[in-house]
Amino acid sequence: MYSNIFDSHAHYTDKSFNDDREIMLGSLRESGVCGVINCGADIESSVFSLELAKKYPFIYAACGVHPEEVETVEADYTDTLSNLAKNEKCVAIGEIGLDYYWRQDTKSQQKEMFENQIVLAKELNLPIIVHDREAHNDTLEILKKHKPEGVLHCFSGSVETAKEVLKLGMYIGLGGAVTFKNARKAVEVAEMLPLDRLLLETDCPYMAPVPMRGKRNNSTYISYIAEKIAEIKGVDPQTVLDVTAENTKKLFDIKK
Ligand code: NI
Repeated sequence: MYSNIFDSHAHYTDKSFNDDREIMLGSLRESGVCGVINCGADIESSVFSLELAKKYPFIYAACGVHPEEVETVEADYTDTLSNLAKNEKCVAIGEIGLDYYWRQDTKSQQKEMFENQIVLAKELNLPIIVHDREAHNDTLEILKKHKPEGVLHCFSGSVETAKEVLKLGMYIGLGGAVTFKNARKAVEVAEMLPLDRLLLETDCPYMAPVPMRGKRNNSTYISYIAEKIAEIKGVDPQTVLDVTAENTKKLFDIKK
């Protein structure tokens, strides 16, 4: 059995965990999970993430507004996030970013909300967790402008884009997609990426890795992702887990 599984991106606040959330979270530690960053996607899920983080010592919260919420969020969202983020269990602003797969017609609003939250993160001295779907150029441009600390989660860009991200000093998060049969780009990125710049993640309940693809995802399935990365890198899976857990603690300033 593996140890030191740190899931850098989870959504245990999702309704698909409503029936068994306590049982699921209560079982993770004995399955080798040492930590979880639970990401908010709007104010409600950010508040809920913090509640989970206060209840479970190994869970940490990220508070932020996802680009898909750009039209529904209240005007004072940065004030609300600022107050939430003052809690010691809030370790990042996220997930935030751009999603042009979802909508092309809200690009300028998405960019404004992304930048506002980066500015907030820098004020609060917190890293960011970035969602970038089919918006690689604009995401990179904004990151180059503000130079925040953070991670590009569920990275779906090219090797060239990944190299730009590394130059900015940021981390790259890889999850279930790296195990998929058609995962050429993610595998190439994993080949190029130095282990000390990699974070592992589930994005659960979504993105379950092979052989669990299509099922509800959870942090224990990170072992399959670690095995795949280990195969690509020619190291053993526990080493991948150990190094990525350390990377996650370093980025999010988690002391134990
Ligand atoms: Ni997510």
